[in-house]
Amino acid sequence: MDKAALDKISYGLYVTGVKDEKWYGGCIVDAFMQVTLVPPTIVYSSMRKNRTDEILKPGTRFSVSVLPADVSPFIISNFGFQSGRLIDKWANVPHYMVDDLPVLTDACAYFICEVIEAKDLETHTLFHCNVIDAVQNDKPPLIYASYREAMKKEATDLFMAYKKSGKSPLL
Ligand SMILES: Cc1cc2nc3c(=O)[nH]c(=O)nc-3n(C[C@H](O)[C@H](O)[C@H](O)COP(=O)(O)O)c2cc1C
Repeated sequence: MDKAALDKISYGLYVTGVKDEKWYGGCIVDAFMQVTLVPPTIVYSSMRKNRTDEILKPGTRFSVSVLPADVSPFIISNFGFQSGRLIDKWANVPHYMVDDLPVLTDACAYFICEVIEAKDLETHTLFHCNVIDAVQNDKPPLIYASYREAMKKEATDLFMAYKKSGKSPLL
Protein backbone atom coordinates (compact mmCIF):
# COMPACT_ATOMS: atom_id res chain seq x y z
CA MET A 1 0.00 0.00 0.00
CA ASP A 2 1.24 3.51 -0.88
CA LYS A 3 0.39 5.51 2.25
CA ALA A 4 1.47 8.71 0.47
CA ALA A 5 -1.85 8.40 -1.37
CA LEU A 6 -3.50 9.49 1.88
CA ASP A 7 -1.72 12.86 1.50
CA LYS A 8 -3.87 13.43 -1.60
CA ILE A 9 -6.94 13.77 0.64
CA SER A 10 -7.54 17.53 1.00
CA TYR A 11 -7.75 19.11 4.44
CA GLY A 12 -7.55 22.55 5.99
CA LEU A 13 -5.75 23.40 9.21
CA TYR A 14 -7.51 24.48 12.39
CA VAL A 15 -6.73 25.57 15.94
CA THR A 16 -9.04 24.18 18.61
CA GLY A 17 -9.62 26.26 21.74
CA VAL A 18 -10.53 24.50 25.01
CA LYS A 19 -10.80 25.48 28.64
CA ASP A 20 -10.24 23.59 31.88
CA GLU A 21 -9.66 24.64 35.49
CA LYS A 22 -6.00 25.48 34.89
CA TRP A 23 -5.96 27.61 31.74
CA TYR A 24 -7.04 27.66 28.11
CA GLY A 25 -5.59 25.10 25.72
CA GLY A 26 -6.00 23.62 22.28
CA CYS A 27 -3.96 22.35 19.38
CA ILE A 28 -3.51 22.23 15.62
CA VAL A 29 -5.85 19.83 13.87
CA ASP A 30 -6.20 18.75 10.24
CA ALA A 31 -8.53 15.77 10.79
CA PHE A 32 -11.69 17.88 10.98
CA MET A 33 -14.68 17.75 8.62
CA GLN A 34 -18.35 18.57 8.27
CA VAL A 35 -20.55 15.43 8.23
CA THR A 36 -24.11 16.84 8.15
CA LEU A 37 -25.58 20.24 7.28
CA VAL A 38 -29.02 19.84 8.90
CA PRO A 39 -28.26 20.00 11.73
CA PRO A 40 -24.67 21.22 11.20
CA THR A 41 -22.31 18.64 12.71
CA ILE A 42 -18.60 17.86 12.33
CA VAL A 43 -16.22 15.05 13.25
CA TYR A 44 -12.73 15.60 14.58
CA SER A 45 -10.06 12.94 15.13
CA SER A 46 -8.04 13.70 18.24
CA MET A 47 -4.80 12.11 19.45
CA ARG A 48 -5.43 10.58 22.88
CA LYS A 49 -2.01 11.63 24.18
CA ASN A 50 -2.91 15.32 23.72
CA ARG A 51 -3.98 17.51 26.64
CA THR A 52 -6.78 18.80 24.39
CA ASP A 53 -8.16 15.26 24.16
CA GLU A 54 -8.30 14.92 27.96
CA ILE A 55 -10.45 18.04 28.23
CA LEU A 56 -13.06 17.10 25.59
CA LYS A 57 -16.02 15.01 26.81
CA PRO A 58 -19.67 14.72 25.68
CA GLY A 59 -21.26 18.11 26.47
CA THR A 60 -17.95 20.06 26.39
CA ARG A 61 -17.83 23.15 24.17
CA PHE A 62 -14.73 24.21 22.25
CA SER A 63 -13.80 26.74 19.58
CA VAL A 64 -12.31 25.97 16.17
CA SER A 65 -10.38 28.77 14.40
CA VAL A 66 -9.96 28.15 10.65
CA LEU A 67 -6.44 29.17 9.59
CA PRO A 68 -6.24 31.62 6.66
CA ALA A 69 -3.91 31.06 3.66
CA ASP A 70 -1.62 33.89 4.87
CA VAL A 71 -1.35 32.61 8.46
CA SER A 72 1.94 33.04 10.31
CA PRO A 73 3.68 29.62 10.40
CA PHE A 74 4.38 30.34 14.08
CA ILE A 75 0.67 29.76 14.83
CA ILE A 76 1.10 26.20 13.56
CA SER A 77 4.25 25.48 15.55
CA ASN A 78 2.95 27.20 18.69
CA PHE A 79 -0.19 25.04 18.75
CA GLY A 80 1.17 21.89 17.08
CA PHE A 81 4.76 21.43 18.29
CA GLN A 82 4.24 21.74 22.07
CA SER A 83 1.71 20.66 24.66
CA GLY A 84 -0.52 22.94 26.68
CA ARG A 85 0.42 20.86 29.73
CA LEU A 86 3.56 22.99 29.99
CA ILE A 87 2.55 26.45 28.78
CA ASP A 88 -0.41 28.66 27.93
CA LYS A 89 -0.20 28.64 24.11
CA TRP A 90 -2.88 31.33 23.81
CA ALA A 91 -0.65 33.81 25.67
CA ASN A 92 1.65 33.74 22.56
CA VAL A 93 -0.91 34.75 19.92
CA PRO A 94 -3.41 37.59 19.30
CA HIS A 95 -6.88 36.28 20.18
CA TYR A 96 -10.23 37.24 21.63
CA MET A 97 -12.84 35.41 23.66
CA VAL A 98 -16.19 34.05 22.43
CA ASP A 99 -18.41 32.40 25.07
CA ASP A 100 -15.30 32.10 27.30
CA LEU A 101 -13.40 30.23 24.57
CA PRO A 102 -10.33 31.64 22.74
CA VAL A 103 -10.48 32.41 19.01
CA LEU A 104 -7.53 33.52 16.83
CA THR A 105 -7.72 37.16 15.71
CA ASP A 106 -6.31 36.00 12.36
CA ALA A 107 -8.89 33.25 11.69
CA CYS A 108 -10.83 33.32 8.40
CA ALA A 109 -13.76 31.62 10.17
CA TYR A 110 -14.52 30.11 13.54
CA PHE A 111 -16.96 27.60 14.99
CA ILE A 112 -18.22 26.97 18.49
CA CYS A 113 -18.75 23.21 18.75
CA GLU A 114 -20.23 20.93 21.41
CA VAL A 115 -19.23 17.27 21.70
CA ILE A 116 -22.21 14.93 21.14
CA GLU A 117 -20.34 11.64 21.28
CA ALA A 118 -16.76 10.40 21.71
CA LYS A 119 -15.70 7.12 20.07
CA ASP A 120 -12.54 5.49 21.41
CA LEU A 121 -10.21 4.47 18.52
CA GLU A 122 -7.33 3.37 20.86
CA THR A 123 -4.70 5.88 19.68
CA HIS A 124 -7.31 8.53 18.80
CA THR A 125 -10.75 9.69 19.88
CA LEU A 126 -13.32 10.47 17.21
CA PHE A 127 -15.48 13.36 18.39
CA HIS A 128 -18.87 13.93 16.74
CA CYS A 129 -19.97 17.49 17.53
CA ASN A 130 -22.79 19.94 17.00
CA VAL A 131 -21.84 23.28 15.47
CA ILE A 132 -23.43 25.80 17.85
CA ASP A 133 -22.21 28.92 16.05
CA ALA A 134 -20.26 29.76 12.87
CA VAL A 135 -18.72 33.07 11.78
CA GLN A 136 -16.56 33.90 8.74
CA ASN A 137 -14.88 36.72 6.82
CA ASP A 138 -13.51 37.21 3.27
CA LYS A 139 -10.08 35.61 3.74
CA PRO A 140 -9.46 32.25 1.98
CA PRO A 141 -8.52 29.20 4.09
CA LEU A 142 -5.12 27.52 4.29
CA ILE A 143 -4.91 24.10 2.60
CA TYR A 144 -2.94 21.49 4.54
CA ALA A 145 -0.89 20.52 1.45
CA SER A 146 0.33 24.15 1.15
CA TYR A 147 1.60 24.00 4.73
CA ARG A 148 3.45 20.73 4.01
CA GLU A 149 4.98 22.08 0.80
CA ALA A 150 5.83 25.68 1.72
CA MET A 151 5.51 26.47 5.43
CA LYS A 152 6.89 23.55 7.45
CA LYS A 153 10.50 24.78 7.56
CA GLU A 154 9.54 28.33 8.55
CA ALA A 155 7.24 26.96 11.25
CA THR A 156 10.17 24.97 12.66
CA ASP A 157 12.64 27.91 12.41
CA LEU A 158 10.23 30.31 14.12
CA PHE A 159 9.56 27.77 16.86
CA MET A 160 13.28 27.24 17.53
CA ALA A 161 13.84 31.02 17.75
CA TYR A 162 10.88 31.30 20.15
CA LYS A 163 12.26 28.50 22.34
CA LYS A 164 15.64 30.25 22.46
CA SER A 165 14.33 33.75 23.22
CA GLY A 166 11.16 32.84 25.15
CA LYS A 167 9.38 35.50 23.09
CA SER A 168 6.54 35.01 20.63
CA PRO A 169 7.25 36.62 17.20
CA LEU A 170 3.57 37.65 17.09
CA LEU A 171 3.49 39.87 20.20
C1 LIG B 1 0.25 20.05 10.88
C2 LIG B 1 -0.27 19.33 12.11
C3 LIG B 1 -1.48 18.64 12.08
C4 LIG B 1 -1.99 18.01 13.23
N1 LIG B 1 -3.19 17.37 13.17
C5 LIG B 1 -3.73 16.84 14.32
C6 LIG B 1 -5.05 16.27 14.32
O1 LIG B 1 -5.75 16.21 13.31
N2 LIG B 1 -5.52 15.78 15.51
C7 LIG B 1 -4.80 15.83 16.67
O2 LIG B 1 -5.29 15.40 17.72
N3 LIG B 1 -3.54 16.34 16.68
C8 LIG B 1 -3.00 16.86 15.54
N4 LIG B 1 -1.74 17.40 15.56
C9 LIG B 1 -0.93 17.28 16.77
C10 LIG B 1 -1.25 18.27 17.89
O3 LIG B 1 -1.49 19.57 17.38
C11 LIG B 1 -0.04 18.28 18.87
O4 LIG B 1 0.17 16.97 19.38
C12 LIG B 1 -0.18 19.28 20.00
O5 LIG B 1 1.11 19.54 20.54
C13 LIG B 1 -1.10 18.79 21.12
O6 LIG B 1 -1.15 19.79 22.12
P1 LIG B 1 -1.93 19.57 23.51
O7 LIG B 1 -1.19 18.49 24.29
O8 LIG B 1 -1.84 20.91 24.19
O9 LIG B 1 -3.32 19.15 23.21
C14 LIG B 1 -1.23 18.03 14.43
C15 LIG B 1 0.01 18.73 14.47
C16 LIG B 1 0.48 19.37 13.34
C17 LIG B 1 1.79 20.11 13.41
